[in-house]
Amino acid sequence: VTPSVVSTVAEMSAWSEEVRARGERIAFVPTMGALHAGHVALLHAAREHLPRDTGRVVLSVFVNPTQFGPAEDLARYPRDLQGDLAIAAPAGIDAVFAPTPVEMYPPHHQTTVRVAELEQGMCGATRPGHFVGVATVVCKLFNIIRPHVAIFGEKDFQQLAVIRRMVVDLNMPVQVVGMPTVREPDGLAMSSRNRYLDPDQRERALSLSRALFATRARSAAGERDVASLLAGAQALLAGVVDRLEYLELRDAETLAPLTSMGERPAVLAVAAFIGKTRLIDNVRLGPAAAEPR
Ligand code: PAF
Repeated sequence: VTPSVVSTVAEMSAWSEEVRARGERIAFVPTMGALHAGHVALLHAAREHLPRDTGRVVLSVFVNPTQFGPAEDLARYPRDLQGDLAIAAPAGIDAVFAPTPVEMYPPHHQTTVRVAELEQGMCGATRPGHFVGVATVVCKLFNIIRPHVAIFGEKDFQQLAVIRRMVVDLNMPVQVVGMPTVREPDGLAMSSRNRYLDPDQRERALSLSRALFATRARSAAGERDVASLLAGAQALLAGVVDRLEYLELRDAETLAPLTSMGERPAVLAVAAFIGKTRLIDNVRLGPAAAEPR
């Protein structure tokens, strides 16, 4: 079944209104397109969060300009709606919302959403304004599509924390679900930006997941010294990545920086450049991290 592709806010809202009026639930997967198996897993999860045989899955494909910095890859970000539809359709989607930038941000648009503390540090430190762009567009998408449940990948760990906070703080009636990162067979986290990598860079990109997995193994084996865990991971990245942007151990729920491994779940997160391509990845450590993911 070909899903309907909707490009205006008015049409999308009317579609959602009709679905809701029938008493059906809506599950939503927001993306910037350039879909890969990680997104397909989110679409399957969306379907699983609907009652059997009812409900609608909506995918959005929108390369949101407000979450890119001036020196970032907005212009070269891959855009291929037909290719995306071919990847997404087998997962059983009902509608695709693919607006233009001016449809989302008409002249005089001036309202933003800022999750003040969670946007600090990690990706927020080097991408000023990024999470304001993300929170604002996700808030708008929620208001247009009015989903009951929305599915996000855990690869963008800080983004997921920002969105969870926004939904609580602004009393949005949406259940936010985070899904584990989907990886290539060799461990590389799936990302739309992996397609920028040449073969040598693709090989070096593996150092991110390798460093994270090795550190998780040391932590599981009883190493609790944060400085030692981080130094070990850094040693695996040094000279392999072109620039390490951050490697941080944080509380998995509050994102507070950790000075010691305690009883709470932690996340080890990394951002690094391989050539001009900025990649991120993370793994959970500590309690509830026993299962590799
Ligand atoms: O994770 C993404 O692809 C984007 O940040 C999102 C959530 C679709 C907002 O533009």
